[in-house]
Amino acid sequence: MKIIAIETSCDETGIALLEVSGTARAPRVRVIENLVTTQIPIHRPFGGVVPNLAKREHLKNLPILFGRLLKKHPQLKFNLITVTVGPGLEPALWTGITFAQSLAKEYGVPLIGANHLEGHLYSFLLSKQKTVSFPAIALIVSGGHTILLKLDSFTKWKRLGETRDDAAGEAFDKVARLLDLPYPGGPEIERLARAGNPHAIAFPRPMLHDKNYDFSFSGLKTSVLYYVRDHPFSKNKTAASVASATRAAKADIAASFQEAALDVLVQKTIRAVREFGARSVMLSGGVAANKALRVRLARETKKIGCAFLVPNFKYNLDNGAMIGVAGYMSYLRKKRYKIEARGDMEI
Ligand code: KG4
Ligand code: ZN
Repeated sequence: MKIIAIETSCDETGIALLEVSGTARAPRVRVIENLVTTQIPIHRPFGGVVPNLAKREHLKNLPILFGRLLKKHPQLKFNLITVTVGPGLEPALWTGITFAQSLAKEYGVPLIGANHLEGHLYSFLLSKQKTVSFPAIALIVSGGHTILLKLDSFTKWKRLGETRDDAAGEAFDKVARLLDLPYPGGPEIERLARAGNPHAIAFPRPMLHDKNYDFSFSGLKTSVLYYVRDHPFSKNKTAASVASATRAAKADIAASFQEAALDVLVQKTIRAVREFGARSVMLSGGVAANKALRVRLARETKKIGCAFLVPNFKYNLDNGAMIGVAGYMSYLRKKRYKIEARGDMEI
């Protein structure tokens, strides 16, 4: 069966066409098209996503993307439409929902809602992977969420923990702002960190040793703020050396911050693997695009004989294809979300 999937929860407009088959125990997915338009340049001057600008851009981009899809597939036929209903920015979510509703009417096909976080969770299915062994631990790390799940099957899971304040991606974005780097901060911090010493500054590892699976990143961000305040970049430097000294100092801060954040993410995930005897780890969400995080989790899971599943880079950031998989899984499970925007929806 063929599915059209629509994603507009944040600053990416996505429309995908998927061919899906199989059961909820063994789903099979083939991505035919995954069209994504990013709004990053629009939001960048504001240092973050502006909901009403996002809404305006989605309204403009949805018909453009669908037009592109029709151009590539003039005889387009599909059996189901799925759209993100939450979590996300409500004005942005409504644009996708309204567009999906009119498509469903025009093509006479059913429409079902999809959970954006389930989209991230299942995104590894979009890349070629081995079969999944359960129990599994899933780490979802995005701009809005940091969640650790224990899965007994593709469709049965328990939340082990989540962030109590900032999400991991949010912390990357905020620290980037402290270092005068543009939005979104994650890729900028990662790039700068490569030139720095991860052990230069001993930033805290919040909640690392707490006997639970929750996270906290706001204190880490505040430590970076104090460090930057107490160590002005251009102090005691001649004008000529300011630029390179500043860059070196910022690189050390970026590398040390990233090391602290990854220490907590990786160590808590591995602790969960050990406690629950997990046989696989799935990593997803925008922060999963971080190569250092992928490499470390791959290494640590390998050490203990656990499979590591992560989607290709193109499926880490928000996209329509992952929503197609989430929608298909909901369809198989007969799980029906109300077709209305729910900004604070949980997994
Ligand atoms: O999943 P996503 O596209 O949107 C949400 O659902 O939130 O994630 C976006 C987040 C942003 O905070 C961004 O800074 C972060 O993912 N991110 C990264 C990297 N690439 C994107 N964080 C760390 N390292 C990266 N390479
Ligand atoms: Zn996302």
